Amino acid sequence: MERTIIDPLDFTTRIAHLWDKDWLLLGSGDVDAGRYNAMTVAWGSFGVMWGRPFAQVVVRPSRHTFGLMNAYDSFTLSAFSPQWKKALGLLGSKSGRDGDKIAESGLRVVRGVVAAAPTFPEAILSIECRKLYWQDMDPGHFLDPAIEGSYNGSDYHRIYFGEIMHLEGSADFRG
Ligand SMILES: Cc1cc2nc3c(=O)[nH]c(=O)nc-3n(C[C@H](O)[C@H](O)[C@H](O)COP(=O)(O)O)c2cc1C
Repeated sequence: MERTIIDPLDFTTRIAHLWDKDWLLLGSGDVDAGRYNAMTVAWGSFGVMWGRPFAQVVVRPSRHTFGLMNAYDSFTLSAFSPQWKKALGLLGSKSGRDGDKIAESGLRVVRGVVAAAPTFPEAILSIECRKLYWQDMDPGHFLDPAIEGSYNGSDYHRIYFGEIMHLEGSADFRG
């Protein structure tokens, strides 16, 4: 997929639609070290914090991705055209600790331009982040009791903010 570099401040898309309907692929770990993974995510955000453009993701401790997110200092987010939706379904239901689900998905892996974490030549949007901050979700702060229904008492997400260091998009994402 042909992509060009986009200034994160100029990045524009239907953001809630991208997360909720299209989904993103969260790449973690270090490709050169041979320790990396990818999992589908649908909850997160983009914005500005501490004067820097960020991507924010949430990862449950039960995910294989969780250990890699904690051990390495970069992560990536990738979006794909609809033909890859089945692959995203696979990467969001199988665990990287049980086998090479990325190979099974048909996606190829390339180290990021600035991030050690994996990026994917097939992606129409590729966002590379440097981890800036994390915090564990505190169920004592849920103001709507219905939120607890997403957890049932355990596996509360860890929240990660990453500064967007490099962003590439196909024509669809040029804004
Ligand atoms: C559409 C979709 C969205 C998901 N969003 C998240 C998410 O935001 N955070 C999370 O921890 N898991 C999320 N998951 C679940 C993980 O992708 C799934 O558990 C995956 O198999 C974990 O892979 P891993 O063990 O290789 O890290 C989502 C799954 C799907 C299908």
